[in-house]
Amino acid sequence: MKGLILAGGSGTRLRPITHTSAKQLVPVANKPILYFVLENLVDAEIIEIAIVVGDTADEIKAAVGDGSRWGAQVTYIAQDAPRGLAHCVFIAAEFLGDDDFVMYLGDNLLQQDLREFLGGREGAAAQILLCRVPDPQRFGVAELSQDRTTVVRLVEKPVVPPSDLALTGVYLFDKTIHEAVRAIAPSARGELEITDAIQWLIDQGHTVHWRQLEGWWIDTGKLTPLLEANRLVLETLEPRIDGKVDEASRIEGRVVIERGAEVVNSTVRGPVVIGAGARVVDSYVGPFTAVGPDCEITHSEIDHSVVLEGGRITDAGDRIVDSLIGKHAEIFRSGQRPRATRLLLGDHSQVDLA
Ligand code: G1P
Repeated sequence: MKGLILAGGSGTRLRPITHTSAKQLVPVANKPILYFVLENLVDAEIIEIAIVVGDTADEIKAAVGDGSRWGAQVTYIAQDAPRGLAHCVFIAAEFLGDDDFVMYLGDNLLQQDLREFLGGREGAAAQILLCRVPDPQRFGVAELSQDRTTVVRLVEKPVVPPSDLALTGVYLFDKTIHEAVRAIAPSARGELEITDAIQWLIDQGHTVHWRQLEGWWIDTGKLTPLLEANRLVLETLEPRIDGKVDEASRIEGRVVIERGAEVVNSTVRGPVVIGAGARVVDSYVGPFTAVGPDCEITHSEIDHSVVLEGGRITDAGDRIVDSLIGKHAEIFRSGQRPRATRLLLGDHSQVDLA
């Protein structure tokens, strides 16, 4: 069994963060999403892994390397433009050979252990993982046979969904899929859709099995799901204090303070992670917050937010909530007159002055 992780794509729904960073490397609880994907595959004993990369190839290669940190052997396959998920299978044909493989979208986070998903596929050319969602229009959607044993139809982003069962970003295929990706034509959005390739398998009389996802699943490519993923993962952390906390500070609940981090005269109420080398001074860091490495939070309050590496928040005034703050971004109060808000915002940034 091999693994194929898709880590191309442009991440338009998470701008401006993705102007400078791959969406698969945005951290959840201070760990890049792609690392969770690799761990998930390796836990299921899938160690021969290829990652399909696009514009952000260099950054992804720098973060993952040869995969030895996970005990995996990682190779890279370059995709010249985002031409669809089925196109990724097409260009990975040589790496995959005749082996069965798991295809995993690199911006998807799953709670479920993959091993459960890999069983029970006897005689099927593909197995898909489905999840009930309130907004199936945003996904690929499956229609099941009357006895609910097999999949009879798949539609990509249907206006009128045939069910509320969305395709998650994890698929299991045998070599028949290679024929399918060669047989289909690009969709209306100009991409070779994996959904169409699986539909082709069904139309040719192959069996497609399905499993329903247990636990949560998050397609992290947008702010709200990203904060939700952060919340869910923070809740699973083992509390640990490797950094320094002074006597005037209070640490409550599930809190991780990494080595070299410092908390001075502050309250940290978990679940929270504070990254290596970060400083929290005269501040409140509240539930569901991930403070990245080397951040500084001074005389401010923040909760339910993600602050990426090197972010600085000083004298913020109102509490900062529901926010994603990019690497080395700064929020401060200069005290200049006239008293006003002065902004230097990158492309596609958002400021809510509620
Ligand atoms: C892709 C698939 C879709 C699936 C989704 C899961 O959509 O085409 O079928 O439901 O991933 O994240 P995309 O993220 O490319 O819009």
